[in-house]
Amino acid sequence: MKPALNVMGLRKMFGGLVAVDDVSFKVEEGEFVGLIGPNGCGKSTTFNCISGLLEKTAGTVEVFGEDVTEMRPDQIQKAGLTRTFQHTRLWREMTVIENDLVPPRNQFGTTILERARSLFLPWRNPKEEARIERAYSTLDQLEVPHMAHNLTSELSGGQSKLVDIGRSMMGEPKLLLLDEPVAGVAGPLAMKIFNNLRNMVDETGISVLIIEHNMDFILRQGVDRIIVMNEGEVLMQGTPDEVKGNREVIEAYLGATGETIQEEE
Ligand SMILES: Nc1ncnc2c1ncn2[C@@H]1O[C@H](COP(=O)(O)OP(=O)(O)OP(=O)(O)O)[C@@H](O)[C@H]1O
Ligand SMILES: [Mg+2]
Repeated sequence: MKPALNVMGLRKMFGGLVAVDDVSFKVEEGEFVGLIGPNGCGKSTTFNCISGLLEKTAGTVEVFGEDVTEMRPDQIQKAGLTRTFQHTRLWREMTVIENDLVPPRNQFGTTILERARSLFLPWRNPKEEARIERAYSTLDQLEVPHMAHNLTSELSGGQSKLVDIGRSMMGEPKLLLLDEPVAGVAGPLAMKIFNNLRNMVDETGISVLIIEHNMDFILRQGVDRIIVMNEGEVLMQGTPDEVKGNREVIEAYLGATGETIQEEE
């Protein structure tokens, strides 16, 4: 089986700065993987290169075996990849539910026949009903159903993050890249979201790569594997237990942030 994501020798330079330095890793189908590392170590830049937003200095990226290295972001999305941004980009003049209703592909009314049908039969068709139903149930899962009809410009940072996760799931991605989706979300809800993502991976078989800044937090959140970056490079990859016991990882974190890794028993 081809991996959902295969990053090989990825390098990104901004002028003289090497932001991502020969990074290689895979995300298998149905895997839930964390990408962690101190501030400025190149996590978001890695996402930006994978999703086609930034030109790569070197390296190859495959999505479900398809070489997407030279593709545009919309083409890479068609290959099955959806991503969110560290700084959420919602459609601010639209309500929460409207934001959720946009991403699904092949919506009713996109073919001439369907457009003609809606002229004569103006009530909603079952396909549309199902999409609306799914949008509401996504908001339920993220515990923001009461915000369905708020403009997204009225939301707090944490609430915007939740709506952004929901919107990214509405397109039924096969591979989902989330950039710090729970930053600014209260602890208990953040944990619940991780649980929901875990369940979604197990139930639907999608693959998720999630950037999380807080190492202490991700170690406890049921990811299958963790990739640790430091200063543009992959420092190590392994299970949460392997990462927890790795001296180099601990030093990278102590050196960069002064935080210690503490596990609550
Ligand atoms: N568009 C850009 N132009 C120039 N330098 C950039 C650009 N984007 C990122 N950088 C630099 O590249 C390095 C990696 O940044 P990046 O945003 O990928 O880190 P990060 O791991 O996502 O950090 P954080 O945890 O703070 O989100 C940093 O030194 C950053 O200043
Ligand atoms: Mg970042």
